[in-house]
Amino acid sequence: MKNDLLLRTLRKEKTERIPVWFMRQAGRYLPDYIKLREKYSFFERVRNPELAAEITVMPVKQVGVDAAILFSDILVIAQALGVDVEILEGKGPMIGDPIRTKKQVEELNPSRTQEVLSYALPTTKAVKDALENEVPLIGFCGSPWTLLCYMVEGKGSKDFSKAKQFCYQHPDLAAKLLDKITEASIIYLNMQIQAGVDTVQIFDSWGGLLSPSDYRKFSLPYLDKIVKVIQPKVPVILYAKGAWFALPELQATGASALGLDWNIEPAVGKKMAGSAVLQGNLDPIVLLGPAKNVEEETIAMLKNFGKGNYIANLGHGVLPQTPFENAKVFVDTVKNFKG
Ligand code: CP3
Repeated sequence: MKNDLLLRTLRKEKTERIPVWFMRQAGRYLPDYIKLREKYSFFERVRNPELAAEITVMPVKQVGVDAAILFSDILVIAQALGVDVEILEGKGPMIGDPIRTKKQVEELNPSRTQEVLSYALPTTKAVKDALENEVPLIGFCGSPWTLLCYMVEGKGSKDFSKAKQFCYQHPDLAAKLLDKITEASIIYLNMQIQAGVDTVQIFDSWGGLLSPSDYRKFSLPYLDKIVKVIQPKVPVILYAKGAWFALPELQATGASALGLDWNIEPAVGKKMAGSAVLQGNLDPIVLLGPAKNVEEETIAMLKNFGKGNYIANLGHGVLPQTPFENAKVFVDTVKNFKG
């Protein structure tokens, strides 16, 4: 592979410079992606190997990031389990029939994952071909907890109160649902690995909605189960937004790297995450501001993390309204950093 900075960093090897990529880099802020969006629905783009490959490679070619992330969505796991999911423009994800009853949980069937997500093999292979061994390919899935949030709430939400209420009222049912999501996620990640992804990230985007003790109940054990199966095959990056309190336990899962959001000082993150590689953590809204500020804030971030055992990224996904030029300033600042 021509540029394996990310993989060497994940293996804790020395590198010439810090690798950089963006969460949610394949998409909404790229003018060429927006053009494709006019012609094809979201899941058409995900399931079509040529389109998925074209979109996945866009940020590598146009912004110069050191890794590609497979174009798909965490919600494909809900589809694998038999739940109807649509992504509506301007509205986000919509679940046809949110999961609220014992019967609905019992009807969910992880054993169809391979069949429902069978396109993942040809799409991932098409992406690998299109990358021509330039940079590594990151596969991904959502955490079981974050998937439960969408499957029970039925749509995006600020507090996912219905999902949390469901867990508090029916903890046994929540555990069954989380088990099924975990099973489907493991099958799906194994499919991605079989098709050639070099590393995987698990997005626990709503981890921070839970108290530390509820995090230990509803999120951590399922992440742990996935990491135990996947980490021996490819390095795992765990990103738990807002769940900085769980960093020591996330590190104890054995995952190679931990993602941080911008609410934690790099020095504190380093202490709490022990030997794990860290990834993050610029506030994505900085990228909306003046280019000079992007550069200054990025340099400050790089100085705070220091070289080694570190992957530059934002603290959450790149926002749709990000000026393309500012995304480039972020990437170029990391690439030029000598610190
Ligand atoms: O780099 C990449 O973009 C790779 C592909 C990717 C998408 N979603 C494509 C997508 C990845 C890694 C995701 C992860 C994802 N999806 C997460 C975890 C990361 C995070 O942001 O916390 C979550 C919570 C979702 C669920 C989801 N999917 C939401 C809330 C939305 C609507 C709002 C939004 O972000 O636009 C989606 C739709 C979605 N997934 C889009 C893209 C490019 C936008 C829809 C479109 O462009 O048509």
